Amino acid sequence: MSVRTIFPAKGLKGEITIPGDKSISHRSVMLGSIAYGTTEITHFLEGADCLSTIDCFRRMGVEIEKKPGRILVRGKGLRGLLAPTDTLNVGNSGTTTRLMAGILAGQNFSSVMSGDASLNSRPMKRIMTPLNRMGAHITSIHDNGCAPLKVEPGVLHGIHYQSPVASAQVKSAVLLAGLYADGETSVTEPALSRNHTELMLQSFGADVTSVMHTDGSATAIVKPCKELYGQQICVPGDISSAAYFIAAALLVPGSELLIKNVGTNFTRAGFLEVCKSMGADITLLNQSFEGGEGRADILVRSGDLKGTVIEGDLIPALIDEIPIIAVMAAHADGTTVIKDAAELKVKETNRIDTVTGNLKAMGGRIAPTDDGMIIEGGPPLTGTHIQSYLDHRIAMAFAIAGLTAQGETVIEDSQCVDVSYPEFFATLEKCRN
Ligand code: S3P
Repeated sequence: MSVRTIFPAKGLKGEITIPGDKSISHRSVMLGSIAYGTTEITHFLEGADCLSTIDCFRRMGVEIEKKPGRILVRGKGLRGLLAPTDTLNVGNSGTTTRLMAGILAGQNFSSVMSGDASLNSRPMKRIMTPLNRMGAHITSIHDNGCAPLKVEPGVLHGIHYQSPVASAQVKSAVLLAGLYADGETSVTEPALSRNHTELMLQSFGADVTSVMHTDGSATAIVKPCKELYGQQICVPGDISSAAYFIAAALLVPGSELLIKNVGTNFTRAGFLEVCKSMGADITLLNQSFEGGEGRADILVRSGDLKGTVIEGDLIPALIDEIPIIAVMAAHADGTTVIKDAAELKVKETNRIDTVTGNLKAMGGRIAPTDDGMIIEGGPPLTGTHIQSYLDHRIAMAFAIAGLTAQGETVIEDSQCVDVSYPEFFATLEKCRN
C-alpha cells in the first residue's frame, strides 16, 4: 500500500499529454475482439481497468498484442469468442463488467464475471433487468444483485428499454446485446449519457441511430448485426484525467499549462462548461474530429473562480469529475450546488460520502445532500491525511487539493490511481515548479 505526500505548489507550467480515454479504450478492445479482422489501437490507456478488459478477452481466445505505442486486437468475429476456462476477473472495472455482460449475453457458452470488493458491491440489476428481458440468463451468484455474475446462453430478442438512469454502461450493455438479437433494440435514457459506444459501433459497421427528444431524454437504436469490421482507432486523451490538471492550473496561482490532445466529445465535456460558468480562463486550441470524437489542446491559466449550480442534463456529462469539481468549489467565491447526482453513490465508492468526508477533513465547508452536495468556497484548505478508500478519482482530486493546502497532504493507498491514470503523480511532478 503506497502513500504520497503532496506539498504546496508555486505554479504549474509547461505542456503535458494526457493518457488515452478510459471509456474509449475499453470499447476499442471489446469491439475489436468481436469484429472480423484486426483492430489497431493507438494511445490506448494502459490503466488497470482497461488491462482487465484485455485480460478477459484474451481468456476468450482473442489474440491481443502489445507493440510499442499500439495494441493489435485480432478479432474473432461476432460469434467467434471461446468459452473461458476460468472466472473472468473484472478487477475494479464497472465498465468491463457491464459492457461485457451485453456481449456475453449473446454467446453460446456460460461464463462468470467477478471483481474486487468494491466492484462486487456495485449494483448489477441495472443491466441484468434489461438483458434478461431480452432473453439473456444472467444471475447474481450470491443473489444480492451484484457480481459475481453468471451468464448462461439464451436467445436474444430486440426490445425497447426505458432506462430509469442516464447510464452509458446500461445503454451500452443493451446495445451490445442488441447486435445479437433477432430484431431492433432501443434504449431511452432520461438524459444523454456518453455516446462512445454508438459512435464506435457505427465506425465498425453496425446500424446504430440516435434521437434526442425535446424533453432532454435520448434514444439509441441498434439493428441486429451480421459482422463488425476491425478499425484503426486513435484514442483521444481522457477529459476525466485532464480535469485534475485543468483544476490544478486554475487553482495554483501563477500557473499556465497546455494540456494536449484531450477528448472533447460533448457528452463528456460538462466539466469544461462548469469551468466556464465558474469564470475559468480556458482556451481550446487545434480542435479536430476523428471517428466522431472531438479533441483539442486546452490552455489553462490560473485565476479566481466563482460558485455555480450544476444539475440536470449536465450531470451525466461530468459525473466522474464531481470530486475534482468539489475541490474547485472549495476555492471559489460563493456557493456551489451540485444536485441530480445520486449516481455518485454507486461509483467505486459512495462519492457523496468520500468527497464530503475528505473535504471536511481539510477544513472545507461542505454539506452532503440526497443527490449531491453544497460547498461554500473560501477558507483555505489545510493538509491532512486523506483516505482514498481505493477510489482512483478520490486519490487524484485530493492530491490536487493538496497543491494549495497549507502544510502537507498525505494520500493513503495512492497506488489506486493506476486504475485510470498510472502516470498521474509523475505528470504532477513534471509540471510543478
Ligand atoms: C462509463 C460510464 C459512467 C462513468 C464510468 C465510465 C463508461 O458510468 O461513470 O466511469 O465507460 O460507459 P455510468 O454508466 O454508471 O454512469
